[in-house]
Amino acid sequence: MEKDIIILGIESSCDDTSAAVIRNGILLSNVTASQAVHEAYGGVVPELASRAHQQNVVPVVDQALKRAGVSKEELSAVAFTRGPGLMGSLLVGVSFAKGFARGLGIPMIEVNHLQGHVLAHFIKEHEDDRDQPDFPFLCLLVSGGNSQIIKVNAYNDMEVLGQTIDDAAGEAIDKCSKVMGLGYPGGPIIDKLARQGNPLAYTFAKPHIDGYDYSFSGLKTSFLYSLRDWLKEDPDFIEHHKEDLAASLEHTIVDILMKKLRQAAKDTGIREVAVAGGVSANNGLRNAFREHAEKYGWKIFIPKFSYTTDNAAMIAITGYFKFQDRDFCAIDLPAYSRVTLK
Ligand code: KG4
Repeated sequence: MEKDIIILGIESSCDDTSAAVIRNGILLSNVTASQAVHEAYGGVVPELASRAHQQNVVPVVDQALKRAGVSKEELSAVAFTRGPGLMGSLLVGVSFAKGFARGLGIPMIEVNHLQGHVLAHFIKEHEDDRDQPDFPFLCLLVSGGNSQIIKVNAYNDMEVLGQTIDDAAGEAIDKCSKVMGLGYPGGPIIDKLARQGNPLAYTFAKPHIDGYDYSFSGLKTSFLYSLRDWLKEDPDFIEHHKEDLAASLEHTIVDILMKKLRQAAKDTGIREVAVAGGVSANNGLRNAFREHAEKYGWKIFIPKFSYTTDNAAMIAITGYFKFQDRDFCAIDLPAYSRVTLK
């Protein structure tokens, strides 16, 4: 009988400390400690994030192993997020993973965080979970730091067809929400308000860029300037119209995202289309995917909410694929704050 492949995944690229255990491709546990400390600052404070990771990493790994019912001696390898992300945050996970793997005498596997988001679609919660995309498929990766259209040819072969030339979609949502004086992160707040507003109430500038690249900085400026004008007329404008503002902002962003994705699907002839990353939790975007599935015959893949934001399950599943290729890394491997998909 073949030996089980049991991977511990560790994710610490931003403000979530997460650990997950996967056995033979099936998820056994996924434990995440989020950091509320940043809310008061309206954004992630890197210094505070690394300190919180230091406090959280051991208990989170401990919980993940306990919930999985797996002892550390049974692990086959430790997979960890190497980057991209905040350097101080990454160093905590990377150093922990190295020490843990070295102590156990098992291999280490480095994981590109972006590849992890895409491969989150292959996380199986049980044996008969068959809802996975076939290669090649397109993946719209939208988060606080990225907006990319990726052609996924295989687990280890991804081509970036287009990406943002300035702000990411999540960053734009967060910044507009900040301008409106709403809390942080803005994404879930805008999402909730948008459900009660009119998406066609206001129009904001849309970019005109060739190819599959995105741009969100013009929209952000247009939102800011429009709001400034409206506030001159009515100092309580935001309070009176926050639902319509949120719905119109969301509608514009979703429109921008889907237009390029539609073009990429048309040009490549690929009909399997997935969405990943923090912004994939957005209801407007999820609905747009469903509408496109209906209208264009797409087979769509929308992640469970728990796999949209940063999580170690996606790192562990990527580690599982890399383990089968014996794609291990050396102890002196540095973390990287910036990197694209290979
Ligand atoms: O992938 P992710 O967790 O990590 C980073 O890239 O940092 O994405 C976080 C982003 C934030 O910009 C957040 O506002 C956005 O995802 N987000 C959402 C929603 N939930 C999170 N954006 C729109 N609607 C949501 N429901």
